[in-house]
Amino acid sequence: MGASIIGTGHYVPEKTLTNQDLEKMVDTSDEWIITRTGIRERRIAKRTESTSDLATKAALNALDSAGVKPEELDCIIVATATPDMMFPSVACLVQEKLEAINAAAFDIEAACTGFIYALTMAQQFLLTRYYSKVLVIGAETLSKITDYKDRNTCVLFGDGAGAVVLELGEEGSGILSSELGADGKGAKLLKLPAGGSLHPASGETVNNRMHYIKMDGNEVFKFAARKMSSSAKNVIEKAGLDVKDIDFLIPHQANIRIIASAAKRLDIEEEKVYVNLDRYGNMSAASIPVALDEAVKKGLIGRGDNIVLVGFGGGLTWGAILIRW
Ligand code: ACO
Repeated sequence: MGASIIGTGHYVPEKTLTNQDLEKMVDTSDEWIITRTGIRERRIAKRTESTSDLATKAALNALDSAGVKPEELDCIIVATATPDMMFPSVACLVQEKLEAINAAAFDIEAACTGFIYALTMAQQFLLTRYYSKVLVIGAETLSKITDYKDRNTCVLFGDGAGAVVLELGEEGSGILSSELGADGKGAKLLKLPAGGSLHPASGETVNNRMHYIKMDGNEVFKFAARKMSSSAKNVIEKAGLDVKDIDFLIPHQANIRIIASAAKRLDIEEEKVYVNLDRYGNMSAASIPVALDEAVKKGLIGRGDNIVLVGFGGGLTWGAILIRW
């Protein structure tokens, strides 16, 4: 039997930050952002809105579509790099908000690959029959750690949350294969330097703007284009399938040029690749589940379809999952 997704949901904040808004904040242009990234606008959480608020709304949406009550959940896993606080975990805050009183709860941090990691972990719990209903959420409020004085990064990120409910399904359905990878040598390429044990928050860390995302965009770009295609290829091979058998590809939504390059290397048709980064930017761990929910609700994914989810992110990390819907 396979670990199957029985419901999906998402939530994005109401406030939109457009490229035109950013033109007033940093030395950039709508034209530069669209041609270099494909992004037109992104959603921004309110000052009072936290990651667990977004995560809870996405979760309620997914539970509703699955027809599952919060108290039926055995486990909640949240993938996030922007938790409400260092601890408790976002998953525990969501558990309380949902009143999912029977669920264990914990977070996973693998930056933008977090949702793929979390989904793979949920699969293990289900296959070993340790749990029978697991809620997996990817949720971020990246706007809270974005430096709106740094044009290299502030044009890229947005806020949102996506969620799925999983249980064991029929033989030959659900997650058919997956791959997780990491290369800590690339840790310096993408990080939020302060606020942890190495550089605890201090006047100095705040003055030096060390509580914001720092990124070597060029290096991340090269790594991403390479890993997205190789990781997708690996899960297709592991499942005994061919690229031609893939009905839909849901890549991490970081940059349209990364997605196009990966699709070209994979030799998969453009119309089989889901893109929503023009509307949301890069929502890190939330990108893939939000895209998945949109594709499901638009009727683009049908029963029996072979879907590949593939992502990369800080760590460096990468991963892919092949699902028979
Ligand atoms: N507006 C105008 N000009 C800009 C902007 C901007 N917003 N940002 C950078 N530039 C300038 C640079 O300063 C540079 O100018 P220079 O040549 O005078 O030095 C020029 O544009 C070209 O810069 P590059 O960095 O070479 O631009 P590139 O085409 O590589 O695009 C980008 C930059 C969009 C960041 C790209 O490298 C990228 O998408 N990288 C991957 C990022 C990513 O996917 N991160 C995901 C992980 S997020 C996570 O894990 C939380």
